[in-house]
Amino acid sequence: MSFISEETIQEIQQRADAVSIIGEYVRLEKKGGRYWGLCPFHNEKTPSFSVDPEKNFFYCFGCHKGGGIISFVMEQEKLSYPETLELLAKKLNITVKYEAGSSSLQETNRMKQLEDMAELYRRVAVSFHHILTATEAGKKAFVYLKERGISDEMINTFRLGYAPAHRHWLYRFLLSKGYSEDFLEKSGLFSRQHTQSSFFTDRLIFPISDRKGRTVAFGGRILQGDGPKYLNSPESDLYKKRETLYAIELALPHIRKTEEVHICEGYMDVIALHQAGVQTAVAPLGTAFTDEQARLLRQWAKTVYLVFDNDPAGQAATIKGILTCRRNGLGCKIVTMEKIGAKSTIFKDPADILKEDGPEALQNYVKCFINDFDYLVGRARALFDTTHTEGLAQAVAFFFPYLETLDSEVSRDGCMGAIADSFGVDRTAIVRDFNQYFQKGVAVHQSYTEKKLQSKAPIRMNDELFLLLAIIANRSLYPRLRASLSIEEVEDPRAKDLFIALEECYRNDIQDIDGLLVQIQDEELRRFILEKASSEAFSQKPEQLVSDGIKRIRAKRLERRRAEIILRLRSARTGSRQSEQQIEELLSEKVHIDAELHRLKED
Ligand code: UTP
Ligand code: MN
Repeated sequence: MSFISEETIQEIQQRADAVSIIGEYVRLEKKGGRYWGLCPFHNEKTPSFSVDPEKNFFYCFGCHKGGGIISFVMEQEKLSYPETLELLAKKLNITVKYEAGSSSLQETNRMKQLEDMAELYRRVAVSFHHILTATEAGKKAFVYLKERGISDEMINTFRLGYAPAHRHWLYRFLLSKGYSEDFLEKSGLFSRQHTQSSFFTDRLIFPISDRKGRTVAFGGRILQGDGPKYLNSPESDLYKKRETLYAIELALPHIRKTEEVHICEGYMDVIALHQAGVQTAVAPLGTAFTDEQARLLRQWAKTVYLVFDNDPAGQAATIKGILTCRRNGLGCKIVTMEKIGAKSTIFKDPADILKEDGPEALQNYVKCFINDFDYLVGRARALFDTTHTEGLAQAVAFFFPYLETLDSEVSRDGCMGAIADSFGVDRTAIVRDFNQYFQKGVAVHQSYTEKKLQSKAPIRMNDELFLLLAIIANRSLYPRLRASLSIEEVEDPRAKDLFIALEECYRNDIQDIDGLLVQIQDEELRRFILEKASSEAFSQKPEQLVSDGIKRIRAKRLERRRAEIILRLRSARTGSRQSEQQIEELLSEKVHIDAELHRLKED
């Protein structure tokens, strides 16, 4: 097998023109800033398929499919990624360059290089671990772990580490160990722009292994300052996010033995669960639980326990997770992190419980699980008003995607009976509605399922989203944004996701839309980007747009803080417990904010 060189891929991306390439498949007509045609991905009579000539992407307002040129051609021609590149290169008269060497020799070399890379990662993990556990530099991170209740045993088992704050430390260290500059450049450990700058600095490090135990990537948690909470190594030939599970190498023997697996949301949750004796715990890596991961687990496990955060995002992920399990032939049970006996709902994850209540308490939580059907009944009751017929119909329809995953008539039938009992609905009506829904076919069902499962409110434009969309439409302005606004200053969770995605693209020098979209898990947000990014609004005076946007976000934040201070000062005057000194501090902060706000308005 041969590999197409990075240089060729970039040339294709630069030279390919969406309108002429997609125009070979779809008759396009120009209207406004976009080209329009009949969508090749679904049946329609009036055009809702659009192509943005500037940003080189397509998007269908009807079926919501969208992406870049490469993914369009891949889908249309049913080709693999390299085949698509070869086809596009031919059309564009680009000579495809392959990585040098004869094919089989090249394959051996490649295998050797992969092994060398895994060995490099292992050595880096060992060094980071040493710095964390045995040096002054790692002390702060070590204390942080202790404060979160993580035991020494877990720190060792998970080979947790600390990446030093000095940007060039790792590069120099590895050069001194005899690694070549060329090899280090390909390693994914360094910035692509500044090849000697470490990707991870001043972060707590979680080494990620494949199931054979080869170290293939790192996750890094921020300890202080600005930036995304977690950074993850870029994908590589060894590391595919959608197919990797954190801690799989540790959990696998236990999963095999018990035929059970516990899936939680993140690094810290996995560690907390292992510390509580739940050694079958793993987590997806910065993505939702995927079909690929489910199929992998199916080789060893019969039952999946979903242990997601007890917050709205966690609840949505749980519903999706149930369908993913069922669709792939896995049984599914839900462990909820609801605080037992608490009056109001408190949002918790396993790591919080470990810290606050200890490992035994966490172990007890995990023993309280319910089956997926009962969980869905609870969610349906919470989401829909079942005292009205409309709400009842919605609640029943909420189960249809689930029913669809059940592969035997008997279990479907049993399930419909249970739905009828739970909501006091006539069973034959359910059967009829479901059959109708089922017959409408896959396309309808997919959008239906997605709509039902996603948060109910559509995304609304706000200042933060507007600013980030302006950046997506004008990617060269991203460095400006990151230099003047930190991610903590952004409030909207979706805007935060966009910010993180842009940062990862920037660090990996990814310019095309497909590269950005894969970073974004939220389906609705992906659509939102594709729908809005080619708006005319972003192409006029983008610099001005961005700097105004930054100012507006700053000002809003300051105004919120100012309002908070005023409230506090007021309550202090009405005789609360605030000390003189606190009042003094609040007043001086207010003066500072006023001056800052004034300055923002001036320039
Ligand atoms: P959370 O934000 O829930 O983090 O993200 P957490 O695991 O509770 O982290 P702690 O407890 O504050 O340390 C869940 C997972 O999503 C991915 C990580 O894999 C994380 O563990 N994630 C989150 C990212 O990849 N990047 C981010 O910026 C945030
Ligand atoms: Mn969490």
